[in-house]
Amino acid sequence: MLRNKILVAMILLLSCSMAFAQEKKTTENEKMEKFVNDLIQKMTLEEKIGQMSLFTSGWTITGPVMSKDYRNYIRKGKAGGIFNAYTVDYVKDLQKIAVEETRLHIPLIFGYDVIHGHRTIFPVPLAQASSWDLDAIEKSERIAATEATAEGLNWVFAPMVDIARDPRWGRVMEGAGEDTWLGSQIAAARVKGFQGDDLSAANTVMACVKHFAAYGAPQAGRDYNTVDMSERSLYEWYLPPYKAAVDAGAGSVMSSFNEIAGVPSTSNRWLLTDLLRGNWGFDGFVVSDYTSVNELIKHGVAADSASAGQLAVNAGLDMDMEGSIYADYMKGLVESGKVSVETINESVKRILEAKYKLGLFDDPYRYCNKEREKTEIMTPEDHAFARKFASESIVLLKNSGQTLPVSKKINTIAVIGPLADSKENMLGGWSGAGEWKKCVTLLEGIKSKTEGKIRVLYAKGCDIDSKSTKGFGEAVKAARQADFVVLALGESSDMTGEASSRTDISIPGNQMELARQIFSAGKPTAVVLFNGRPLTIEELDHSAPAILEAWYGGTEAGNAIADILFGEVNPSAKITMTFPRSVGQVPIFYNSKNTGRPFDASKPEDKFKSRYIDSPNTPLYPFGYGLSYTTFKYSGIKLDKSTFAKGDKIKASVNITNTGNYDGDEIAQLYVHDVVGEVTRPVKELKGFRKVHIAKGETLTVTFELKDNDLAYYHQDMSYACDPGVFELFIGSDSSTDNKVDFTVLE
Ligand code: NOJ
Repeated sequence: MLRNKILVAMILLLSCSMAFAQEKKTTENEKMEKFVNDLIQKMTLEEKIGQMSLFTSGWTITGPVMSKDYRNYIRKGKAGGIFNAYTVDYVKDLQKIAVEETRLHIPLIFGYDVIHGHRTIFPVPLAQASSWDLDAIEKSERIAATEATAEGLNWVFAPMVDIARDPRWGRVMEGAGEDTWLGSQIAAARVKGFQGDDLSAANTVMACVKHFAAYGAPQAGRDYNTVDMSERSLYEWYLPPYKAAVDAGAGSVMSSFNEIAGVPSTSNRWLLTDLLRGNWGFDGFVVSDYTSVNELIKHGVAADSASAGQLAVNAGLDMDMEGSIYADYMKGLVESGKVSVETINESVKRILEAKYKLGLFDDPYRYCNKEREKTEIMTPEDHAFARKFASESIVLLKNSGQTLPVSKKINTIAVIGPLADSKENMLGGWSGAGEWKKCVTLLEGIKSKTEGKIRVLYAKGCDIDSKSTKGFGEAVKAARQADFVVLALGESSDMTGEASSRTDISIPGNQMELARQIFSAGKPTAVVLFNGRPLTIEELDHSAPAILEAWYGGTEAGNAIADILFGEVNPSAKITMTFPRSVGQVPIFYNSKNTGRPFDASKPEDKFKSRYIDSPNTPLYPFGYGLSYTTFKYSGIKLDKSTFAKGDKIKASVNITNTGNYDGDEIAQLYVHDVVGEVTRPVKELKGFRKVHIAKGETLTVTFELKDNDLAYYHQDMSYACDPGVFELFIGSDSSTDNKVDFTVLE
């Protein structure tokens, strides 16, 4: 009785406080609306257009600079924001011009590409995704936001949530990989990390989800190329991560460079207005990508700059990044009636609301705190976290005969390869404010770990991308003298990222020849790979005793790799993008369709099947794959019921036993397959994962829960629903698992 009363009282209290929070939000929104509407009333057309223009400072150039005179633009009220400007003094200086020298004193918004950390650089996003650690990903953005705001910034051009299935595309490094479900969770975690609970706090930044939409599917993997796909693929695979970021409260969205089915995103009204605002309820602002309004001319949908501006603004594009089209042509467009004043007012309102939410009208210098700049950047705690997070992102791809961890008995280790001591290649692309000189190389990490205990030899061997064999002799000599060899191979940082597509995704230059010679020395050897995309490394997989995928680990890269090499950290990461055997298999991804003629491995002589005559269909390493120093054994899956009605849930559990010699973390993955759908369904779809710690010798029961909505998909009429019928449910250590049971969803 008493318990019931307490319960009722608690429910009442909770609903009262929820109602209070809701009321507070409404009042705050009303206050904001009034403030912004009053301000718009006072603004001239030129001042409004000024708010809709964003210019680069020219500090970090991420495209052709169109606006060398940005200070004058600010002074004349022609800029609403500046990007690529940071540090308190610089930002304050520019903000002062806006606040003190313009008629209405409207503060600027300051944006920057904070992609995997600001000053403390974390692993590249594709590597972070391999950790499957949403809390760590969120925390890394929290730290990035703290550091960025300590240097004057309040807006970041992140997260990049483009799903990518083609490793030729250089920008796969910036995203979460090929999976929509995981990518959506990561997108939301990043937004939460950046924005926190209160955008007006001095240590939170506004996120900008990019690149809207489907930028990750350029034909042939060539950056900026055409995107063309079915409506179903767009809805099913590409859109959900943007939606997840919007649902998590992202304050802004960036339109993408590409077209989709003939319409460039930057002038796509269906995309920017009907879908984004109409269906998804997005209430922030949309910024173009760098000069993407101008590019509407090259795309061939606008005859001249004025028409480009007209198309973009009428599609719902609020802010022109660097293109000067709005600045130069918008007034004329309004005066000639091609763009309505209402459209301009709408865009300006969204931009001013963003500034209001950031607290810039209360204090334009909110993010300009000299003290914070001194104390909140690259703190020892940030370094410690960067090291831990980097080690969590390193994937053990091969480990024959337990080559790793390095035996404690060795006396001499040889560290060889063009990436072994290459400071400038530890951070990875898009680390603009990161200081490469301050990062730890692999050689440094190994030296500090082994100091006084193990002799360390070093030889570069060759450059990353050259044909010279000059250093081979010295490298082989070092290998022969050592008891263990660490061979650091891969791409240079600038081989991935924007405008860095490759047709050949093997290890560049003469590095494989170096590897062959080192392997022939016959020493236990671990290859450490530095790269921002899946590479074609089939030969390495045959010949290297051990392979560690280290990606670009950031500021603490070398220490983190050393932690793994010497067994202080047991690797647990799993790749989130399929590694093909050859570039000819691309695009290759786990959630493919069965086709009408699936290949049957037990009948390889069967010619008329969906297969290659010169390669297996299977990848080198499947999505979700990654080894540990220990081994995990999965038991059969138990379901709490074998049939379930719509609206109900089903629980699946599996026992995982650590059968090896080390304690370790395992990322258990759950996949489903709708056996008979109204439209064809993928052979597997990730619908859950659990990252668990299991001590050696122990068994853990891992449980998942699925709702019918987790099984839903877009039907022929594009309605989103779950089919009745049989589903296969898989739980295993990667997407190739065949550990499965069936269940049935009732009519
Ligand atoms: C172009 C890139 O596509 C985008 O991701 C970036 O945010 C802008 N340049 C600004 O640097």
